[in-house]
Amino acid sequence: MFLIRELTVNDYDALVALWKEAGLPYRPNGRDQRERIAREVAGPCSIFLVAEIERHIVGAVLGTHDGRKGWINRLAVSPRYRRQGIAAALVAAVEGRLSGMGIEIVACLIEDWNNDSRTVFEHLGYRYYPDVRYYTRRKDDEV
Ligand SMILES: CC(C)(COP(=O)(O)OP(=O)(O)OC[C@H]1O[C@@H](n2cnc3c(N)ncnc32)[C@H](O)[C@@H]1OP(=O)(O)O)[C@@H](O)C(=O)NCCC(=O)NCCS
Repeated sequence: MFLIRELTVNDYDALVALWKEAGLPYRPNGRDQRERIAREVAGPCSIFLVAEIERHIVGAVLGTHDGRKGWINRLAVSPRYRRQGIAAALVAAVEGRLSGMGIEIVACLIEDWNNDSRTVFEHLGYRYYPDVRYYTRRKDDEV
């Protein structure tokens, strides 16, 4: 059985290893730097959680909020531990914390090609908005 707990900066290496294992993008020179993650963990806008089995990190999610909406970022579960409800539990834990803050909208951005992830969020009750287009301005491609 897994347990869900807050991510700490000491989990950083295991978190990066999990992202790599799950095939998620990783921005070592941008927002995924250890110092940036540490700053976010210490700040008021993050709900960074991990799922653990026998002290081994098998899943993680970087929940955030901007005061109006909550965001699910970088949901990842180790391939060996998939289809056991770990992602669902991580998302529910973020949603529960957001709800406790009075935040009633939770959203996530999923790349068009990521059919597995799209299916997962549909199973979790998330509604797809095909008429929304994502625009962003970035300092550079590394951030
Ligand atoms: C997406 C991911 C986190 C799902 O993790 P998981 O722990 O296997 O998911 P869960 O077991 O909690 O499944 C949640 C629901 O999605 C369904 N589901 C899970 N994986 C699925 C898949 N590949 N195809 C279809 N449905 C799937 C489950 O059946 C469950 O639905 P149900 O509650 O109606 O039965 C995992 O596959 C992963 O790490 N993928 C690579 C990284 C990634 O793409 N992350 C998303 C970035 S937005």
